[in-house]
Amino acid sequence: MSALNPGSVPRTISCAFSDEAIARQWVQALQKRLPPNIEAKLWQPDAPPADYAVAWHPSQGFLDSQPRLKALFVAGAGVDAVTALKRAPDCLLVRVEDAGMGLQMAQYVAYGALRFARGFDAYEAQAQRAQWRDHPRPDLADLPVGIMGVGVLGLTIAHSLQALGFQVHGWVRTPRGSQTVPISAGHDSLEDFLRATRILVCALPLTVETQQIINARHLSVLPRGSFVINVARGGHVDEPALIQALDSGHIAGALLDVCAIEPAPADHPFWTHPKIRLTPHIAASTLLDPSADQVVEKIMRLERGETISGVVQARGY
Ligand code: NAP
Ligand code: GLV
Repeated sequence: MSALNPGSVPRTISCAFSDEAIARQWVQALQKRLPPNIEAKLWQPDAPPADYAVAWHPSQGFLDSQPRLKALFVAGAGVDAVTALKRAPDCLLVRVEDAGMGLQMAQYVAYGALRFARGFDAYEAQAQRAQWRDHPRPDLADLPVGIMGVGVLGLTIAHSLQALGFQVHGWVRTPRGSQTVPISAGHDSLEDFLRATRILVCALPLTVETQQIINARHLSVLPRGSFVINVARGGHVDEPALIQALDSGHIAGALLDVCAIEPAPADHPFWTHPKIRLTPHIAASTLLDPSADQVVEKIMRLERGETISGVVQARGY
Protein backbone atom coordinates (compact mmCIF):
# COMPACT_ATOMS: atom_id res chain seq x y z
CA MET A 1 0.00 0.00 0.00
CA SER A 2 2.67 2.48 1.03
CA ALA A 3 4.66 1.87 -2.15
CA LEU A 4 1.58 2.66 -4.27
CA ASN A 5 0.37 5.69 -2.35
CA PRO A 6 3.40 7.37 -0.84
CA GLY A 7 1.71 10.73 -0.42
CA SER A 8 -0.75 9.64 2.25
CA VAL A 9 1.18 7.46 4.69
CA PRO A 10 2.52 9.33 7.73
CA ARG A 11 6.29 9.02 8.05
CA THR A 12 8.90 10.52 10.34
CA ILE A 13 12.57 11.32 9.89
CA SER A 14 14.71 11.63 12.98
CA CYS A 15 17.71 13.98 12.79
CA ALA A 16 20.48 12.99 15.21
CA PHE A 17 23.61 15.13 15.48
CA SER A 18 25.75 15.87 18.52
CA ASP A 19 25.46 19.57 17.63
CA GLU A 20 21.80 20.54 18.12
CA ALA A 21 22.12 23.62 15.88
CA ILE A 22 23.14 21.36 12.96
CA ALA A 23 20.28 18.96 13.71
CA ARG A 24 17.84 21.92 13.61
CA GLN A 25 19.25 23.07 10.26
CA TRP A 26 18.70 19.59 8.87
CA VAL A 27 15.13 19.47 10.20
CA GLN A 28 14.34 22.78 8.48
CA ALA A 29 16.10 21.89 5.23
CA LEU A 30 14.32 18.54 5.00
CA GLN A 31 10.90 19.82 6.03
CA LYS A 32 10.75 22.49 3.35
CA ARG A 33 11.39 19.81 0.71
CA LEU A 34 9.03 17.15 2.09
CA PRO A 35 5.35 16.50 1.38
CA PRO A 36 3.00 17.11 4.35
CA ASN A 37 2.76 13.45 5.36
CA ILE A 38 6.50 13.23 6.14
CA GLU A 39 7.72 15.02 9.22
CA ALA A 40 11.37 15.72 10.05
CA LYS A 41 12.13 15.98 13.79
CA LEU A 42 15.01 16.43 16.17
CA TRP A 43 15.84 13.12 17.79
CA GLN A 44 14.55 12.86 21.37
CA PRO A 45 15.34 9.76 23.44
CA ASP A 46 11.67 9.28 24.39
CA ALA A 47 10.19 9.91 20.89
CA PRO A 48 8.45 7.06 19.04
CA PRO A 49 10.72 5.23 16.57
CA ALA A 50 11.13 6.97 13.20
CA ASP A 51 10.93 5.56 9.66
CA TYR A 52 14.13 7.25 8.45
CA ALA A 53 17.07 8.95 10.12
CA VAL A 54 19.73 11.45 9.12
CA ALA A 55 22.79 11.42 11.35
CA TRP A 56 26.50 12.06 11.66
CA HIS A 57 28.41 9.77 14.01
CA PRO A 58 25.23 8.32 15.58
CA SER A 59 25.63 6.37 18.80
CA GLN A 60 24.67 2.75 19.29
CA GLY A 61 22.09 4.08 21.79
CA PHE A 62 20.44 6.09 19.02
CA LEU A 63 20.31 3.10 16.68
CA ASP A 64 18.95 0.87 19.47
CA SER A 65 16.10 3.38 19.85
CA GLN A 66 15.24 3.05 16.13
CA PRO A 67 14.06 -0.54 15.57
CA ARG A 68 12.02 0.17 12.45
CA LEU A 69 14.30 2.38 10.35
CA LYS A 70 14.05 1.76 6.62
CA ALA A 71 17.15 3.82 5.93
CA LEU A 72 19.83 5.64 7.87
CA PHE A 73 21.26 8.54 5.85
CA VAL A 74 24.76 9.46 6.94
CA ALA A 75 25.34 13.21 6.51
CA GLY A 76 28.65 12.74 4.72
CA ALA A 77 30.52 10.57 2.23
CA GLY A 78 32.41 8.38 4.69
CA VAL A 79 30.46 5.83 6.71
CA ASP A 80 33.33 4.27 8.68
CA ALA A 81 31.92 5.58 11.99
CA VAL A 82 28.69 3.66 11.41
CA THR A 83 29.46 0.38 9.66
CA ALA A 84 30.38 -1.45 12.86
CA LEU A 85 27.20 -0.37 14.70
CA LYS A 86 24.15 -2.61 14.90
CA ARG A 87 21.10 -1.21 13.18
CA ALA A 88 17.56 -2.43 12.51
CA PRO A 89 17.32 -5.43 10.21
CA ASP A 90 16.74 -4.31 6.60
CA CYS A 91 17.77 -0.72 7.44
CA LEU A 92 19.74 0.61 4.45
CA LEU A 93 22.86 2.62 5.20
CA VAL A 94 23.07 5.48 2.68
CA ARG A 95 25.87 8.01 2.18
CA VAL A 96 26.04 11.44 0.55
CA GLU A 97 27.24 11.21 -3.05
CA ASP A 98 29.27 14.27 -3.98
CA ALA A 99 26.67 17.01 -3.28
CA GLY A 100 29.36 19.64 -3.76
CA MET A 101 32.13 17.78 -1.96
CA GLY A 102 33.98 16.72 -5.12
CA LEU A 103 34.76 20.32 -6.07
CA GLN A 104 35.97 21.15 -2.56
CA MET A 105 38.20 18.07 -2.55
CA ALA A 106 39.58 18.97 -5.95
CA GLN A 107 40.46 22.48 -4.71
CA TYR A 108 42.23 21.09 -1.65
CA VAL A 109 44.23 18.48 -3.56
CA ALA A 110 45.12 20.95 -6.32
CA TYR A 111 46.49 23.30 -3.66
CA GLY A 112 48.68 20.51 -2.23
CA ALA A 113 49.84 19.18 -5.58
CA LEU A 114 50.72 22.66 -6.88
CA ARG A 115 52.41 23.69 -3.67
CA PHE A 116 54.68 20.66 -3.97
CA ALA A 117 55.13 20.68 -7.74
CA ARG A 118 55.85 24.41 -8.03
CA GLY A 119 58.13 24.48 -4.96
CA PHE A 120 56.09 27.04 -3.01
CA ASP A 121 57.54 25.86 0.32
CA ALA A 122 61.01 26.85 -0.88
CA TYR A 123 59.75 30.24 -2.13
CA GLU A 124 58.02 30.85 1.19
CA ALA A 125 61.24 30.10 3.06
CA GLN A 126 63.15 32.42 0.73
CA ALA A 127 60.61 35.18 1.27
CA GLN A 128 61.35 35.01 5.01
CA ARG A 129 64.91 35.98 4.07
CA ALA A 130 63.86 38.54 1.43
CA GLN A 131 65.64 36.41 -1.14
CA TRP A 132 64.71 36.93 -4.81
CA ARG A 133 65.82 33.77 -6.58
CA ASP A 134 64.10 31.45 -9.01
CA HIS A 135 64.46 27.71 -9.38
CA PRO A 136 63.97 25.55 -12.46
CA ARG A 137 60.26 24.82 -12.96
CA PRO A 138 59.67 21.05 -12.80
CA ASP A 139 58.12 19.25 -15.73
CA LEU A 140 54.78 17.94 -14.46
CA ALA A 141 55.35 14.82 -16.54
CA ASP A 142 57.99 13.93 -13.93
CA LEU A 143 55.48 14.25 -11.11
CA PRO A 144 52.66 11.81 -11.90
CA VAL A 145 49.75 11.85 -9.46
CA GLY A 146 48.44 8.50 -8.23
CA ILE A 147 44.97 8.60 -6.69
CA MET A 148 44.02 5.73 -4.39
CA GLY A 149 40.23 5.48 -4.67
CA VAL A 150 38.75 6.86 -7.85
CA GLY A 151 35.13 6.93 -6.75
CA VAL A 152 32.76 9.89 -6.69
CA LEU A 153 35.32 12.25 -5.13
CA GLY A 154 38.50 10.71 -6.54
CA LEU A 155 37.26 11.10 -10.10
CA THR A 156 36.55 14.82 -9.68
CA ILE A 157 39.99 15.25 -8.12
CA ALA A 158 41.53 13.39 -11.06
CA HIS A 159 39.82 15.48 -13.73
CA SER A 160 40.71 18.75 -12.00
CA LEU A 161 44.38 17.79 -11.76
CA GLN A 162 44.39 16.74 -15.42
CA ALA A 163 43.03 20.18 -16.30
CA LEU A 164 46.01 21.70 -14.44
CA GLY A 165 48.45 19.68 -16.53
CA PHE A 166 49.20 16.80 -14.17
CA GLN A 167 49.45 13.24 -15.40
CA VAL A 168 47.01 11.29 -13.30
CA HIS A 169 46.40 7.62 -12.78
CA GLY A 170 44.25 5.81 -10.25
CA TRP A 171 43.94 2.67 -8.21
CA VAL A 172 40.62 1.05 -7.27
CA ARG A 173 39.25 -2.25 -6.03
CA THR A 174 37.21 -3.49 -8.97
CA PRO A 175 38.54 -3.59 -12.54
CA ARG A 176 36.66 -1.23 -14.86
CA GLY A 177 36.44 -0.50 -18.56
CA SER A 178 38.05 2.37 -20.40
CA GLN A 179 38.11 5.65 -18.50
CA THR A 180 39.23 9.25 -18.80
CA VAL A 181 41.83 8.36 -16.15
CA PRO A 182 44.10 5.28 -16.46
CA ILE A 183 43.10 2.92 -13.68
CA SER A 184 44.63 -0.17 -12.14
CA ALA A 185 42.67 -2.40 -9.81
CA GLY A 186 43.21 -4.79 -6.96
CA HIS A 187 45.85 -5.52 -4.39
CA ASP A 188 48.25 -7.19 -6.85
CA SER A 189 48.61 -3.97 -8.86
CA LEU A 190 49.18 -1.69 -5.86
CA GLU A 191 52.97 -1.69 -5.82
CA ASP A 192 53.25 -1.02 -9.57
CA PHE A 193 50.79 1.83 -9.09
CA LEU A 194 52.91 3.27 -6.27
CA ARG A 195 56.16 2.91 -8.23
CA ALA A 196 54.62 5.02 -11.00
CA THR A 197 53.48 7.78 -8.59
CA ARG A 198 55.24 10.90 -7.29
CA ILE A 199 52.26 12.61 -5.69
CA LEU A 200 50.12 10.11 -3.80
CA VAL A 201 46.53 11.13 -3.04
CA CYS A 202 44.39 9.00 -0.73
CA ALA A 203 40.66 9.27 -1.45
CA LEU A 204 39.69 5.81 -0.22
CA PRO A 205 36.92 4.88 2.18
CA LEU A 206 38.21 3.49 5.48
CA THR A 207 37.49 -0.24 5.57
CA VAL A 208 39.16 -3.35 6.93
CA GLU A 209 41.07 -3.59 3.62
CA THR A 210 42.26 0.01 3.50
CA GLN A 211 43.19 0.50 7.17
CA GLN A 212 46.88 1.64 7.43
CA ILE A 213 47.36 1.18 3.70
CA ILE A 214 49.90 4.03 3.73
CA ASN A 215 52.41 2.06 5.76
CA ALA A 216 56.20 1.62 5.86
CA ARG A 217 56.18 -0.94 3.06
CA HIS A 218 54.02 1.08 0.68
CA LEU A 219 55.82 4.34 1.44
CA SER A 220 59.10 2.62 0.62
CA VAL A 221 57.75 1.61 -2.81
CA LEU A 222 56.99 5.22 -3.73
CA PRO A 223 59.91 6.85 -5.57
CA ARG A 224 62.29 8.87 -3.38
CA GLY A 225 61.11 12.45 -3.04
CA SER A 226 57.38 11.66 -3.34
CA PHE A 227 54.68 13.75 -1.72
CA VAL A 228 51.62 12.39 0.16
CA ILE A 229 48.17 14.00 0.34
CA ASN A 230 45.54 12.36 2.55
CA VAL A 231 41.99 13.68 2.22
CA ALA A 232 40.29 10.48 3.34
CA ARG A 233 40.69 9.21 6.91
CA GLY A 234 43.54 9.23 9.42
CA GLY A 235 43.20 5.46 9.78
CA HIS A 236 44.67 5.01 6.29
CA VAL A 237 48.09 6.14 7.50
CA ASP A 238 50.58 4.42 9.77
CA GLU A 239 51.55 7.74 11.38
CA PRO A 240 54.94 6.74 12.90
CA ALA A 241 55.90 5.14 9.56
CA LEU A 242 55.09 8.35 7.71
CA ILE A 243 57.16 10.42 10.12
CA GLN A 244 60.06 8.01 9.71
CA ALA A 245 59.82 8.17 5.90
CA LEU A 246 59.81 11.99 6.06
CA ASP A 247 62.73 12.11 8.50
CA SER A 248 64.79 9.77 6.34
CA GLY A 249 64.17 12.02 3.32
CA HIS A 250 62.47 9.25 1.35
CA ILE A 251 59.18 11.16 1.40
CA ALA A 252 59.55 14.88 0.66
CA GLY A 253 56.43 16.16 2.37
CA ALA A 254 52.80 15.57 3.23
CA LEU A 255 49.56 17.50 3.25
CA LEU A 256 47.19 15.80 5.67
CA ASP A 257 43.58 16.75 6.29
CA VAL A 258 42.89 13.93 8.70
CA CYS A 259 44.45 12.23 11.69
CA ALA A 260 44.04 8.89 13.45
CA ILE A 261 42.67 10.76 16.49
CA GLU A 262 40.59 13.87 15.80
CA PRO A 263 40.92 16.56 16.91
CA ALA A 264 44.67 15.97 16.78
CA PRO A 265 46.02 16.62 20.30
CA ALA A 266 48.21 19.70 20.77
CA ASP A 267 51.33 17.54 21.18
CA HIS A 268 50.71 15.48 18.02
CA PRO A 269 53.98 15.45 16.04
CA PHE A 270 52.12 16.30 12.80
CA TRP A 271 51.51 19.86 14.06
CA THR A 272 55.19 20.71 14.24
CA HIS A 273 56.86 18.44 11.71
CA PRO A 274 58.59 20.74 9.19
CA LYS A 275 57.54 18.59 6.23
CA ILE A 276 53.89 18.20 7.21
CA ARG A 277 51.00 20.59 6.73
CA LEU A 278 47.98 19.48 8.80
CA THR A 279 44.46 20.85 8.39
CA PRO A 280 41.50 20.05 10.68
CA HIS A 281 39.40 17.78 8.44
CA ILE A 282 38.18 20.56 6.17
CA ALA A 283 39.01 19.22 2.70
CA ALA A 284 35.30 18.85 1.87
CA SER A 285 32.34 19.69 4.10
CA THR A 286 28.81 18.47 3.71
CA LEU A 287 26.74 21.19 2.05
CA LEU A 288 23.28 21.25 3.57
CA ASP A 289 21.10 22.16 0.59
CA PRO A 290 22.41 19.70 -2.02
CA SER A 291 22.66 16.98 0.63
CA ALA A 292 19.08 17.55 1.80
CA ASP A 293 17.96 17.44 -1.85
CA GLN A 294 19.60 14.02 -2.15
CA VAL A 295 18.11 12.65 1.07
CA VAL A 296 14.59 13.76 0.22
CA GLU A 297 14.81 12.48 -3.33
CA LYS A 298 15.97 9.11 -2.06
CA ILE A 299 13.25 8.91 0.58
CA MET A 300 10.62 9.64 -2.07
CA ARG A 301 12.09 6.91 -4.28
CA LEU A 302 12.07 4.42 -1.40
CA GLU A 303 8.46 5.37 -0.63
CA ARG A 304 7.59 4.54 -4.22
CA GLY A 305 9.34 1.17 -3.89
CA GLU A 306 12.21 2.21 -6.18
CA THR A 307 15.92 1.54 -5.74
CA ILE A 308 18.41 4.25 -4.76
CA SER A 309 22.12 4.83 -5.27
CA GLY A 310 24.65 5.45 -2.51
CA VAL A 311 23.69 2.40 -0.46
CA VAL A 312 26.66 1.05 1.49
CA GLN A 313 27.41 -2.55 0.62
CA ALA A 314 28.77 -5.39 2.76
CA ARG A 315 32.33 -4.45 1.60
CA GLY A 316 31.98 -1.36 3.86
CA TYR A 317 31.55 1.51 1.39
P1 NAP B 1 33.35 6.20 -3.21
O1 NAP B 1 32.61 6.86 -4.30
O2 NAP B 1 32.73 5.03 -2.53
O3 NAP B 1 34.77 5.76 -3.83
C1 NAP B 1 35.63 4.93 -3.15
C2 NAP B 1 36.76 4.51 -4.08
O4 NAP B 1 37.71 3.77 -3.31
C3 NAP B 1 36.27 3.61 -5.22
O5 NAP B 1 36.99 3.90 -6.39
C4 NAP B 1 36.68 2.22 -4.71
O6 NAP B 1 36.98 1.27 -5.71
C5 NAP B 1 37.95 2.54 -3.97
N1 NAP B 1 38.24 1.47 -3.00
C6 NAP B 1 37.51 1.07 -1.94
N2 NAP B 1 38.10 0.03 -1.32
C7 NAP B 1 39.23 -0.24 -2.01
C8 NAP B 1 40.25 -1.20 -1.90
N3 NAP B 1 40.23 -2.13 -0.91
N4 NAP B 1 41.24 -1.20 -2.79
C9 NAP B 1 41.27 -0.28 -3.80
N5 NAP B 1 40.33 0.67 -3.99
C10 NAP B 1 39.31 0.69 -3.09
O7 NAP B 1 33.74 7.22 -2.06
P2 NAP B 1 33.83 8.82 -2.16
O8 NAP B 1 32.49 9.43 -2.10
O9 NAP B 1 34.71 9.17 -3.30
O10 NAP B 1 34.55 9.17 -0.76
C11 NAP B 1 35.84 8.67 -0.45
C12 NAP B 1 36.18 8.95 0.99
O11 NAP B 1 36.54 10.31 1.17
C13 NAP B 1 35.06 8.77 2.00
O12 NAP B 1 34.87 7.42 2.34
C14 NAP B 1 35.52 9.60 3.17
O13 NAP B 1 36.23 8.81 4.11
C15 NAP B 1 36.48 10.61 2.56
N6 NAP B 1 36.02 11.98 2.73
C16 NAP B 1 36.82 12.86 3.40
C17 NAP B 1 36.42 14.18 3.53
C18 NAP B 1 37.31 15.20 4.17
O14 NAP B 1 36.90 16.34 4.35
N7 NAP B 1 38.53 14.87 4.52
C19 NAP B 1 35.20 14.61 2.98
C20 NAP B 1 34.42 13.69 2.31
C21 NAP B 1 34.84 12.38 2.18
P3 NAP B 1 35.85 0.71 -6.72
O15 NAP B 1 35.64 1.85 -7.69
O16 NAP B 1 36.49 -0.45 -7.34
O17 NAP B 1 34.65 0.40 -5.89
C1 GLV C 1 33.68 13.83 5.71
O1 GLV C 1 34.72 13.50 6.16
C2 GLV C 1 32.80 12.94 5.02
O2 GLV C 1 33.03 11.73 5.04
O3 GLV C 1 31.82 13.43 4.41
